[in-house]
Amino acid sequence: MAVKKELESSTNSGEARTVVSTNTYRQQEEAMSTVTATSPAVGSFCIPRSRGRINMPRFTMTVRSSNAVSAGVAPIMTKLKHDCATPLPLLRHVADAMAADMRAGLAVDGGSDLKMILSYVDTLPTGNEKGLFYALDLGGTNFRVLRVQLGGKEERVIATEFDQVSIPQELMFGTSEELFDFIASGLAKFAEKEGGKFHLPPGRKREIGFTFSFPVRQTSIDSGILIKWTKGFAVSGTAGRDVVACLNEAMDRQGLDMRVSALVNDTVGTLAGARYWDDDVMVAVILGTGTNACYVERMNAIPKLQGHVSPSGRTIVNTEWGAFSNGLPLTVFDKDMDAASINPGEQIFEKTISGMYLGEIVRRVLLKMAAEGALFGESVPEKLSTPFVLRTPDLSAMQQDNSDDLNVVGSILYNIAGVESNLSARKIVLEVCDTIVMRGGRLAGAGIVGILQKMEEDSTGLIFGKRTVVAMDGGLYEHYPQYKRYLKDAVKEILGLEKSKNVVIEHTKDGSGIGASLLAASNSKYEHDF
Ligand code: BGC
Repeated sequence: MAVKKELESSTNSGEARTVVSTNTYRQQEEAMSTVTATSPAVGSFCIPRSRGRINMPRFTMTVRSSNAVSAGVAPIMTKLKHDCATPLPLLRHVADAMAADMRAGLAVDGGSDLKMILSYVDTLPTGNEKGLFYALDLGGTNFRVLRVQLGGKEERVIATEFDQVSIPQELMFGTSEELFDFIASGLAKFAEKEGGKFHLPPGRKREIGFTFSFPVRQTSIDSGILIKWTKGFAVSGTAGRDVVACLNEAMDRQGLDMRVSALVNDTVGTLAGARYWDDDVMVAVILGTGTNACYVERMNAIPKLQGHVSPSGRTIVNTEWGAFSNGLPLTVFDKDMDAASINPGEQIFEKTISGMYLGEIVRRVLLKMAAEGALFGESVPEKLSTPFVLRTPDLSAMQQDNSDDLNVVGSILYNIAGVESNLSARKIVLEVCDTIVMRGGRLAGAGIVGILQKMEEDSTGLIFGKRTVVAMDGGLYEHYPQYKRYLKDAVKEILGLEKSKNVVIEHTKDGSGIGASLLAASNSKYEHDF
């Protein structure tokens, strides 16, 4: 019987909320979904909640009487669709290029856009892990702290508790010290709530699995140098430093005596978490604010290995596929958005397919249609000129509108961009959303096929000869049904029915948090009997 108790009930930005659950993994999913937090920049993907923030005017707003939109919109739409098209040959090319870039990145550091980072995770969870472990998760709009009680094969995940806080915007642009102090103080507050419940043997520190979802050059399982920030973070003083050292220093400042025993990317945490329940998991993909994928690789397929030995003969490789750029169908809107970003020329795949950017691409298209095609009447709505004002969860909420007059679309446009729209304009807005989302989902699908293809080429039968699971996580995948469908359809289209039959694309909610604690357990520096 699941016992779920909410200790605090605030969901305000910057305030933590603790959820305790004593349950099975599946029941725990339910508990996780009770917490939400949003960032002003990109937002969460909880559609029902995002509707809550919309002041639905329904019939109180003036709907422009004419249903016609200017003829100037049509050529923009035609060109957009042309430039975003993802026919099968293009998808095949993307999949092949992804596989080729993976090989080049495995051959030598800097060999391709794909960094192909060694995770130092050489053994995957077995189910025997036991004890009390913490996990820290920093990677997007939210920061999370978890406490997990693992009970071994019989009891599995006995209990989990977590706090979630949205990262204040200013910290994304502040100093490294400020950001890590914020994390360490969140961890300290959460650790205090443990009370006297658990007793560790004398001299033993509490151990943490640290999920840090940015490109890190791992130097061991518990250390790694930040290569660069992504997803809109521009914190000074962290790039080039060991992020575990940054956290340790901040924990010292808090007087907190805990130890990081595993530093992992969110994809790696997801793969480990999913593998705990299912031995067929070979690949993990995150599609949220940012995007990335990792997979299980054979050591003898990694020429750039320098002396690193894995007893299992395998390791997890973090591809950092967000940096992929080969053969992507890009529009002028993508190019302008990239040029205006804080990392121009970087993370092009991420900027084409991930949640941080889809809303912004659509906003740019609508702005042009408003300016050159009078989409919303004679004047251009002022708010539509604000970068990132339209968020991907808004697109998803609009695309779920099945009403005859598309009143949700109208309300969102009114609330977000201050525009009054007629039915034709709303239909056009939906067509733009669909075009951008279809391109994103299909390209993500092609990326997945690229990874599977590479693995199959190296060991025939490894992937398509048996059931293979791709573990998926991230708000975009979870909360955007159209995106998910486009992704799955593209995988089927490229692989064909026969091969795709064996490929299971499965959502693993919060695999990454549990996964990080499992990896903290299996990499514990203390004696363990599992
Ligand atoms: C980061 C990856 C991360 C992904 C998903 C990307 O921006 O570079 O390390 O896994 O986002 O969170």
